[in-house]
Amino acid sequence: MDETILEIKDLNMVFSSGKSKVHAVDNVSFRIKQGETVGIVGESGCGKTTLGRCIVLAYKATSGQVLYHAADGKKYNIQAISKQKLRSIRKEIQMIFQDPYSSLDPRMTVFDIISEPLRANYKKIPKNEMEYRVQDVAKKVGLNPSYLKRYPHAFSGGQRQRIGIARALILYPRVIICDEPVSALDVSVQSQVINLLMDLQKNMNLTYLFISHDLSVVEHISDQVGVMYLGQIVEYASTDLLFHNPCHPYTEALLSAIPLADPDTPMDHIPLKGEIPNPSNLPSGCFFHTRCPYCQERCIRERTSLIRLDDGRLVSCHFAGKLPLHGIQAKVPR
Ligand SMILES: Nc1ncnc2c1ncn2[C@@H]1O[C@H](COP(=O)(O)OP(=O)(O)OP(=O)(O)O)[C@@H](O)[C@H]1O
Ligand code: SF4
Ligand SMILES: [Mg+2]
Repeated sequence: MDETILEIKDLNMVFSSGKSKVHAVDNVSFRIKQGETVGIVGESGCGKTTLGRCIVLAYKATSGQVLYHAADGKKYNIQAISKQKLRSIRKEIQMIFQDPYSSLDPRMTVFDIISEPLRANYKKIPKNEMEYRVQDVAKKVGLNPSYLKRYPHAFSGGQRQRIGIARALILYPRVIICDEPVSALDVSVQSQVINLLMDLQKNMNLTYLFISHDLSVVEHISDQVGVMYLGQIVEYASTDLLFHNPCHPYTEALLSAIPLADPDTPMDHIPLKGEIPNPSNLPSGCFFHTRCPYCQERCIRERTSLIRLDDGRLVSCHFAGKLPLHGIQAKVPR
């Protein structure tokens, strides 16, 4: 369980259109161990999806490496790999998307949707093997096999997301990038899908990168959490440390906005002031300084970089470890 499966190193993704440039992923580095879940949180537009897409090579990054420790025991930089090798590596890293409505082709049967990656990767797969694999993953995600001849419109959001998960599993991957997999679902269905993902992880030894703006879900499912702001990781720590003892003011602000289970106990809330800066016109100094309640003169002038604290976490703040920040348990009732 202690083995690294993915190493993201100095990853950058810059989108250019005309004169404007957006640095959607800005020098991001972290590692994921086999069998664990790394949550990625942050407000809309901070680069979560772009990071996930660079890892599955849906985007070729502007620079940096994504080192993957493959099933064959070798390590590959999947951002710079031969086309032939990429075909076999790609099967091992799959993605689940947010919207179970638009990501499933309405003209295909559920069987055809789930089996499509098999047909694309193994031109001559025998029919009975294909049927066996589709039945197998349908069972694993809790889809009734008699539904396989139907079309996606016949299914609820939760069932559709199960179809999306079955499709991601059909090639028996090792890593799954889950991009907001429950955000489009009713709250009552969210926990069923989260529990399914957790069971699948145990039974199939899967590794997840779990992208979400919902911190409660991320706390429940993740072993480690990375907090992103304007393309950068500003804090990366074990879930327990990050939620109970945050060291970056942005993490604290996100935590204080988590709705509480008990609405009768109002808690101190540190509202995030101001808007997210325009990503094509980034602030000077620390990118968070325009909204940070602890901002000092140095923050406006001097860029921050990720430093490792004694407890092992990474934080990008000039005053990391020196600010009196509150985590979720430390919220004080008014
Ligand atoms: N294909 C693209 N072309 C140009 N800019 C893009 C592209 N994809 C994303 N961006 C920009 O990159 C930044 C990061 O976007 P991204 O979709 O990765 O954020 P996100 O954290 O996933 O947001 P959300 O929570 O809304 O899904 C944004 O400023 C976005 O406008
Ligand atoms: S460097 Fe300064 S502005 Fe940035 S997060 Fe730390 S205290 Fe806030
Ligand atoms: Mg996104």
